Amino acid sequence: MPQGPLFLLAIETSCDETAAAVLEGPRTPVRGVPRIRSSVVASQIGLHQRFGGVVPEIASRAHVTQFLPVVDEALRLAEVRLEELGAIAVATHPGLVGSLVVGLTVAKTLAMSLDIPLVAVDHLEGHLYACQLAYPDREVYPCVGLVVSGGHSSLYHCRGPLDCEPLGGTIDDAAGEAFDKVAAILGLGYPGGPEIERVARSGNPTAVKLPRSFLHDDRLAFSFSGLKTAVLYALGGINSRKPPSTETLDPAFVADLAASFQEAVVDVLVAKTRQAIEMTGLTKLGIGGGVAANTRFRERIKALAAKLGVELFIPPLSLCTDNAAMAGIAFEKLAIGDVAELDVDVQAGLVRPGRP
Ligand code: KG4
Ligand code: ZN
Repeated sequence: MPQGPLFLLAIETSCDETAAAVLEGPRTPVRGVPRIRSSVVASQIGLHQRFGGVVPEIASRAHVTQFLPVVDEALRLAEVRLEELGAIAVATHPGLVGSLVVGLTVAKTLAMSLDIPLVAVDHLEGHLYACQLAYPDREVYPCVGLVVSGGHSSLYHCRGPLDCEPLGGTIDDAAGEAFDKVAAILGLGYPGGPEIERVARSGNPTAVKLPRSFLHDDRLAFSFSGLKTAVLYALGGINSRKPPSTETLDPAFVADLAASFQEAVVDVLVAKTRQAIEMTGLTKLGIGGGVAANTRFRERIKALAAKLGVELFIPPLSLCTDNAAMAGIAFEKLAIGDVAELDVDVQAGLVRPGRP
């Protein structure tokens, strides 16, 4: 039986980031927050930019070519040799099937050839666990969890890292998806979130009146597609059924519209999070996902937490957007013996029925 810490190689290929990380944590059955030894993310943004969004087939192919150098780099930076690894973790759901399959295939191959356990993790639980990685000396759970990413806008009652009960989610676009689509309408680059944030800095957030769905509704639901359409209307795209040419747009108006859009998204995210906190009576709040990198959102959610007196856990930007370190939640699974068989498969959607 090997002694000392366990080195785990974590793999993430659910969308368009090829990522690997090495974490150092306790051996079974001891529970403890692992330490990130290295975290490498090879972005594919350059490949998808001209399409204004992620093209699944391109993403899968890029994972294949990028993967091994990324794993090598993660091991090199961690100063850990392949033979020293004690387990492999991989995000198996939710995500793009073709992309997930690449990561899972590498993970299975390594686990089998090194004869070490394979742990399948949930990408969304991983996004929230990033909070625990960011604050290793504080207990994040139980908490209200908010995941705001390109594919999800969901609120959870998290009793523990592996026990997150869905409270509500989006009925159409995810928050990040709305950022990406509105950026495309405004002729800005991809991914849209950082672009909107950049342009919004010089805009007036109250300049354009935009809708805020479900704001005064008891349901913990989000809807962003009407907001996206409202942006199109504000640009005069309503009659032509397609966005007006972005070359003719006044940059000052684009800035106002971007700022107004950002404020509308943030208003809704903050209001619904407040509702979830009040409904559950929980005193901790954990945030995950790419949209949590947004500066305005961070300011407002911090203000909310301070006002309600709840403890806020919001990871640094590198742990908000997709990364492999968050698959370090695998240590929680190892501690309870939840190891995957080698016939484990990927799932495009959410694994638990009824989950938002
Ligand atoms: O969590 P993530 O990296 O991947 C998914 O699991 O989807 O999230 C990506 C999303 C994209 O839609 C991107 O536009 C958004 O996060 N995003 C942002 C910012 N940075 C990334 N949205 C708003 N403001 C940002 N600064
Ligand atoms: Zn994600």
